[in-house]
Amino acid sequence: MMLILCIFIGLASPVFCDKTAVLILARGGSKGVRLKNIRNVGGISLLGRSILTAKLAGFHDITVSTDHPLIALEGLKYNTTVFKRSYVTSTDWAPSIWGVAEFIEKRQDIDILILLQATSPFINFKYLRSAHAKLNFPIPFDCVFSVTRSYKLRWSYSNSGTHSLNFDYKKRPRRQDWNGEFIESGAFYISRRGVIVKGTLQNNNCTVWELSQAESLEIDTEYDLHLANILIINKLV
Ligand SMILES: *[C@@H]1O[C@H](CO)[C@@H](O)[C@H](O)[C@H]1NC(C)=O
Ligand SMILES: *[C@@H]1O[C@H](CO)[C@@H](O)[C@H](O)[C@H]1NC(C)=O
Repeated sequence: MMLILCIFIGLASPVFCDKTAVLILARGGSKGVRLKNIRNVGGISLLGRSILTAKLAGFHDITVSTDHPLIALEGLKYNTTVFKRSYVTSTDWAPSIWGVAEFIEKRQDIDILILLQATSPFINFKYLRSAHAKLNFPIPFDCVFSVTRSYKLRWSYSNSGTHSLNFDYKKRPRRQDWNGEFIESGAFYISRRGVIVKGTLQNNNCTVWELSQAESLEIDTEYDLHLANILIINKLV
């Protein structure tokens, strides 16, 4: 059905026709929390949560790339494809783009890739869908990535003294006086193939998707896991 639709309106409206796939990179050797990706939040593993988010958002081509058998099993439990991540791209020092490049090279059919971070348990599926649509509407971009807004006043401090970095200390902005700054959140990156083959997920022709406070929570430590469960118990997410 979609394919026939694409043949008719494909040229006018490529958004329906670009093939989108979701990739979740889930290494076994996570620091901080051991096998973090299969730890539970609200009774569902972090990996399971992100797979369900992707499915609810309407994406069905979902791959879990991992070097660990237990993570692979968890992916299979949710009916995803499992991609065996090579040793080099699974090390602590390997940047995510290596894992992405490795995958996209094997999947020449993909036009748009959503790199979804399993350690962001509260990504709203409706917003993931909207962020994906923002790649093409109202104007096309090469990439969309998630950000959070920060009103933090930043300083540098060195031998040469203190320097306010993002404000004028003589005119300290109040929260309502400025729009803050965008901080990249790792929650998701949506990029066209053309960007990825150049070895990055982003360029100067991206747009951003602003996350809510809950959505921006990332699980790095046991403390974060507790926090995520408390948010669920108290129905704050
Ligand atoms: C996975 O697929 C099997 C067979 O189609 C189905 O029985 C099962 O409910 C699916 N599991 C999930 C989590 O979607
Ligand atoms: C940004 O990317 C889109 C989609 O690839 C492209 O159509 C558009 O021309 C690009 N804009 C600029 C300024 O490069």
